[in-house]
Amino acid sequence: MKNISASLALVSILSATILFIAYCIEPVKANTDLRGPGYAGSTTCQSCHQQVYDHYKNTAHSKATSEANHQNIKASFEPGHNIYSYDVNTKLEMQKRDSCYFFQVYNYGKQTEEYRIDLIFGWKNAQTYMYAKNDHTYELPLSYYHSVNKWGTSPGFPTVQPYFARMVGRDCYECHSSYLDEKTTSVISSQEKFDVKKMILGIDCERCHGPAMQHVTYHLDNPADKKAKYIVLVNKLSRAQKIDACAICHSGNDRAKIESRFYFRMGDTLDKFFMRKHYSENESLDVHGNQHGLLSQSKCFTRSANMTCMTCHNAHQDANADLSVYSQTCIKCHKETHVAECPKKAGIGEAIGKNCIDCHMPKQASGAISFRLQDSSKFSSYVLRSHRIMIYKDSMMKNLH
Ligand code: HEC
Ligand code: HEC
Ligand code: HEC
Ligand code: HEC
Ligand code: HEC
Ligand code: HEC
Ligand code: HEC
Repeated sequence: MKNISASLALVSILSATILFIAYCIEPVKANTDLRGPGYAGSTTCQSCHQQVYDHYKNTAHSKATSEANHQNIKASFEPGHNIYSYDVNTKLEMQKRDSCYFFQVYNYGKQTEEYRIDLIFGWKNAQTYMYAKNDHTYELPLSYYHSVNKWGTSPGFPTVQPYFARMVGRDCYECHSSYLDEKTTSVISSQEKFDVKKMILGIDCERCHGPAMQHVTYHLDNPADKKAKYIVLVNKLSRAQKIDACAICHSGNDRAKIESRFYFRMGDTLDKFFMRKHYSENESLDVHGNQHGLLSQSKCFTRSANMTCMTCHNAHQDANADLSVYSQTCIKCHKETHVAECPKKAGIGEAIGKNCIDCHMPKQASGAISFRLQDSSKFSSYVLRSHRIMIYKDSMMKNLH
């Protein structure tokens, strides 16, 4: 036992040092994970799974929620880019002071209120910010949209005046974080209280793989054993179990819940968590957050035996931006027949094999999420890739002309 705790201490000192240099924040000891003694914490995995860790650490999963500091905040607080006017008399100014970030409210030229950003949601395409007060978190009225590098109203927020009372309950954290220390579980979900200082932000290794302390201690003690022990073996899972390890957060949010998503462990299936919902073939699903529902409507999925999210994605990396890589995956199943015989090939030539995606998985605007940018009278939409793989007549026209 001594041996194990000595090695564990070493691992935690090592990872603590690395964390300290990289992030300059209070290092978390490996064996004091908030979820309890069964959990080791992501930094502990680094020593044996360096490559996975390096790939993972700057992904959208790792940063699905994060602390408000200069490494994580992507919005602009520079003069000239940090004002949002609701009307001539009401504006918000986003300010950085020391290492903190604030929303300041101005009415008739006078500053009337100030809110500090405590937490961040989002990373790659957009960020929305939270402030904490009395064991609750609240979403701030403006978000930052990276595709246009501008502040705009947070989705669903009023465009006529700033609003600071939208409480963000457990629901958002169930998909965007790894642990919450709940104080009360009220029937009214918006009243859920939790200790904002005791959260595990981001989607960490054990959020997907389950508690791994026993795995860590075993392998520290048995370095010669190269076969994984005391951890769920992903390859032994059924297709449904593999899919559901992603679908727990990627199948929309419109079904009656049976159990909190926080209790999901790799190997579980969705039926324990939601009332199962079968989407009819023609039902139109929103592209936001429902990749599972859309993929399930595709013939590629229903008529093949092994397709999962990992057919096209690496669980430890963001979506690859290179569409030719996905197209190679399409061609593997479609054996180039389409490349050779596609009626559209005449106009495109061999290039058709490099991008099956824009024609068969076009980008679509989410109907659920829209926002208004500064200096614009119109609403903009959040645009995502449809995971319903099929023949789209409209997008064909666009791609061909
Ligand atoms: C002391 C070394 C050690 C540490 C620390 C460690 N692992 Fe492992 N892990 C192994 C070894 C050895 C294997 C088997 C070889 C391989 O797959 O890399 C393995 C395999 C795995 C696998 C693959 C299982 C499969 O499906 O085949 C997962 C998942 C995993 N580890 C997760 C974790 C997580 C999560 C952590 C941190 C909480 C962690 N490991 C920390 C040694 C370690
Ligand atoms: C605990 C919830 C959760 C689980 C489990 C989960 N995801 Fe995610 N995933 C998210 C959230 C939340 C985001 C958006 C993060 C952000 O940008 O803030 C996301 C983003 C992504 C992205 C987009 C990254 C990018 O390039 O923009 C991909 C791809 C993805 N997930 C695939 C998967 C796959 C594959 C699995 C299963 C192995 C999985 N996810 C499991 C919650 C989850
Ligand atoms: C979004 C969920 C998710 C997160 C977060 C995640 N994994 Fe995985 N991991 C998976 C899935 C799914 C597989 C199986 C991949 C496959 O079959 O292609 C996997 C495979 C592995 C494997 C074995 C195969 C390999 O790629 O080496 C190891 C080891 C591993 N994960 C460790 C980790 C560690 C360490 C972390 C944190 C740094 C982590 N995982 C974070 C979902 C996740
Ligand atoms: C059912 C799981 C789920 C819930 C609940 C959820 N999200 Fe997300 N969220 C996702 C996924 C998945 C993505 C990324 C892909 C997408 O939009 O389909 C995402 C994307 C985002 C993004 C954009 C990140 C980026 O860079 O693209 C923000 C910001 C965000 N969510 C905030 C929130 C807030 C705030 C709440 C609560 C009001 C919330 N989410 C609730 C799963 C969820
Ligand atoms: C795992 C194998 C597999 C992969 C990977 C795959 N498909 Fe398919 N796809 C199928 C099967 C099986 C069918 C159904 C064929 C049938 O019924 O004749 C299908 C059908 C289709 C159809 C016809 C759909 C309809 O509604 O008529 C299109 C278009 C298509 N696939 C495009 C793609 C594209 C583009 C990709 C890559 C993004 C892709 N497929 C990846 C197996 C796959
Ligand atoms: C047939 C291939 C394929 C499969 C299977 C697949 N994806 Fe994707 N996914 C893509 C492509 C292509 C993109 C877009 C990449 C881009 O445009 O940069 C993407 C992007 C994403 C994104 C980023 C949001 C967006 O719209 O750009 C998320 C999240 C995601 N996938 C989740 C999943 C999940 C979860 C599963 C399993 C339920 C899954 N994907 C299965 C091909 C696939
Ligand atoms: C310019 C747009 C475009 C591109 C690029 C494209 N397709 Fe298609 N595809 C179509 C259209 C249009 C149809 C319907 C043809 C018809 O009904 O006559 C189609 C039909 C299909 C079908 C079902 C019909 C069949 O039997 O062939 C499959 C499978 C398919 N495409 C796969 C692919 C794959 C794989 C790629 C990439 C190698 C690809 N497509 C690239 C436009 C495109």
